[in-house]
Amino acid sequence: MVLENSVRKLEHIDIVLNKPVEGPSTTMFEYVFIPYIAYSDISLDDVRLETDFLGKRLATPLIISGMTGGASGTEKINRALAEVARDYRIALGIGSQRAAVEDPSLEYTFRVVREVAPEIPVVANLGAAEVVRYEINSVVKAVDMVEADALAIHLNLAQEAVQPEGTPTFKGLGKKVSELIQELSVPIIIKEVGAGLSYEVVKYFRGLGIKYFDTEGAGGTNWVLVEMFRARKAGDHVKERLAQFLAEWGVPTAASIIEARNAAPDSVIIGSGGLRTSLDAIKALRLGADLVGMARPFIKAYFNGELREFVEAFIHGLKVSLMLAGAKDLRDLRARPVIITSLLKEWINSRGLEVPK
Ligand SMILES: Cc1cc2nc3c(=O)[nH]c(=O)nc-3n(C[C@H](O)[C@H](O)[C@H](O)COP(=O)(O)O)c2cc1C
Repeated sequence: MVLENSVRKLEHIDIVLNKPVEGPSTTMFEYVFIPYIAYSDISLDDVRLETDFLGKRLATPLIISGMTGGASGTEKINRALAEVARDYRIALGIGSQRAAVEDPSLEYTFRVVREVAPEIPVVANLGAAEVVRYEINSVVKAVDMVEADALAIHLNLAQEAVQPEGTPTFKGLGKKVSELIQELSVPIIIKEVGAGLSYEVVKYFRGLGIKYFDTEGAGGTNWVLVEMFRARKAGDHVKERLAQFLAEWGVPTAASIIEARNAAPDSVIIGSGGLRTSLDAIKALRLGADLVGMARPFIKAYFNGELREFVEAFIHGLKVSLMLAGAKDLRDLRARPVIITSLLKEWINSRGLEVPK
């Protein structure tokens, strides 16, 4: 079982790097426009990206979404991600800690992030399927393992449903989350993995007391497609077909951010899932995200030996984007006009949602 977790993690990384795992849904950012301002009194030096997250100050509103750990070799990836997170003062998520909770000899693959980056916000990670069946102590262990500032619980129901060995039920999660809110010393983040959080899910968990949501909407890495490739390799042709039937489903990221913001106006929203450029990021921030997250671009950049270059270009691009939108900081950006067209406009109208003014 433990070995199975580690092997699966390495298979996931391999597929994410080498197979076409994005789409067919888009993020819907293509329906969002922010007027380009060719003249304002704001110069690049005036632009401020700092923001607070989990009680710590970030230089840029960016988190590396949870990906790795739990298999031999992944400590190297986590070390590199933690180094850039530390050097650029951005937040860091780690991959599911299931393997290390069940086999402490793998803890070092996660602990490395705290050793490297003692001061940045680090987000622990467990799947909803594990949280439901674990004792409270095991969940506390995951948080303590990296002295985490928060625990992300990922709701990957679509992925579990098509995964050859998946557990497609989170029955009892609400009750468990209520208990964990009492027992944990850090907040819980409710996170998807690329099919997106909807209004209903955010509203439900907000009602339990959760104040952090990571949208991970559709349009980027598609975990139903990732599992399709695993099912094909395993010869599980029913699951392979099932994945093909369902691959298009999800809440596109632009819609997911608006849904989450409407369902939890007073909460911290991470806009994520398919963000690839600084322009995507500024759109996410304008639609209501407090910070943005990305996964696949970071791991691809790591394996291409371009991690620092990617992070630097992204952060600089975000600064330039704010200047070009005529905004000097994130608050200012939220007061800038935004144009929403076509399908996203219809989505918002048919759901009775509002885009934050
Ligand atoms: C290699 C890899 C491994 C991942 N492992 C996890 C995980 O263990 N736990 C989790 O919550 N999300 C995991 N994710 C999902 C990401 O956090 C993110 O939700 C998803 O990939 C969508 O973002 P993207 O389009 O920027 O990749 C993983 C993503 C990648 C690329």
